[in-house]
Amino acid sequence: MTISSANAKTGYDQLEYHPGFGGAFRSESVPNSLPKHAHVPEKVPYGLYTEGMTGSAFTAPRHSNRRSWLYRIRPSVVHNPYEEYSGNNSLVYNFNQDNTDEVKSTPQQLRWDPLKVKGAENLDFLDSIRTICGAGNAQLKSGVAIHWYQFGKDMDKKALYSSDGDFLFLPVKGELLIQTEYGRMHVPPCHIAVVQRNMKFTVSRVGEHSPNEPASGYILEAFNNHFVLPDLGPIGGNGLANIEDFETPTACYEDTDEEWLIVNKYGGKLFQYTQDHSPYDVVSWLGNYVPYRYDLQKFCSVGNISFDHADPSLQCVLQVPSDTPGTSIIDFCAFPRRWSAVNDTFRPPWFHRNIVTEFMATVSGYPSPRDGCNLHNPGSAHGPDSASTEMGYSGKIPDGPIQVGAEGSMICLMETYLPLNPTKWALEDSGSLQPNYHEQWQGIKRHHTLPASSYAG
Ligand SMILES: [Fe+2]
Repeated sequence: MTISSANAKTGYDQLEYHPGFGGAFRSESVPNSLPKHAHVPEKVPYGLYTEGMTGSAFTAPRHSNRRSWLYRIRPSVVHNPYEEYSGNNSLVYNFNQDNTDEVKSTPQQLRWDPLKVKGAENLDFLDSIRTICGAGNAQLKSGVAIHWYQFGKDMDKKALYSSDGDFLFLPVKGELLIQTEYGRMHVPPCHIAVVQRNMKFTVSRVGEHSPNEPASGYILEAFNNHFVLPDLGPIGGNGLANIEDFETPTACYEDTDEEWLIVNKYGGKLFQYTQDHSPYDVVSWLGNYVPYRYDLQKFCSVGNISFDHADPSLQCVLQVPSDTPGTSIIDFCAFPRRWSAVNDTFRPPWFHRNIVTEFMATVSGYPSPRDGCNLHNPGSAHGPDSASTEMGYSGKIPDGPIQVGAEGSMICLMETYLPLNPTKWALEDSGSLQPNYHEQWQGIKRHHTLPASSYAG
């Protein structure tokens, strides 16, 4: 096996990255291995093959047109025929309410303890994925899915690529090393990583941990389109997720004759093929269709400094726009520790009934029963629990600045205008659904000083 010099010199926590978001990169693990002029020269340096990868239609507008050129030892097409995947497949791809075997449509407010996959310590990343909820249909390239992974085994000589949607990784427990055709990314908790459609990747656990101790986290998958940065509007050119804080891996390659299993998520189903060499034989690449990671702790919150609370859209890191201006298929929002400095304001979050769906995931810093996730579908009322409400009305919270969240705390919100249908696994098999979530609001008291009724005649 030959490993590129970049590989040999760096550990997972010392990998180098290209900074930026949405730009074009040139990445070489071997100097001068990229062609000087044409993308597809008759002879590529070092005898490599050229392989194009598109992330948009050829004729997509320039601002959304994405493509990359990979220069690799052998082209991806050198593989055996596709067949159905022989491993575990617990993915749900059809979230229509008619699919009563797998999903259940409900407006009920739901909350889960940290999700658990049975036998996780003996599963690899791919076989551990369980779908929590979603909308639409992967086959129709419409909608979203939210999954949970919890694995204790490395994928070894196995790679996955999804033809359905980009994977946004949100690790909760355990540091991930995500090997891609473009290079490797270290993704610990409080980071996210995005591997876009059709890019092959392999997920391993790194960092200090006991043997087979499971790593766990969420995967947000959007079927329609790619993630983009939200417009900043009057905020200006800085703040929220700054473009230079996104990091794309640098090229590194391996040349092996070992057998690899490549798994393709296609129309929500899994297919596989074998090949007699590593899929990670890309020596150099260029383009703007790339994987990337982002440290959520670098998110620059813009806050509340007079009265009232800003809408949670002010915490948006990435979004997948819909065809309706200002309406996202997904807004992915991060809530790190931040200051709130307001006067004459009810300090807990306000009660609300939104037009959109909110899926909230705790990454760190919130004890039980808020250390899992919750789902509030469109129109379903929610807000602070009775204890927080009493505190809000007590006058004990002073005006002026307070810090929201504990040191190192992180909550992430996945918001969509689509109703999300939870899966049978999430509602029943996970064993994590809190049956009495609604009770946290039942103790909210009357505080009014009005007569008993204004209808008295
Ligand atoms: Fe909410």
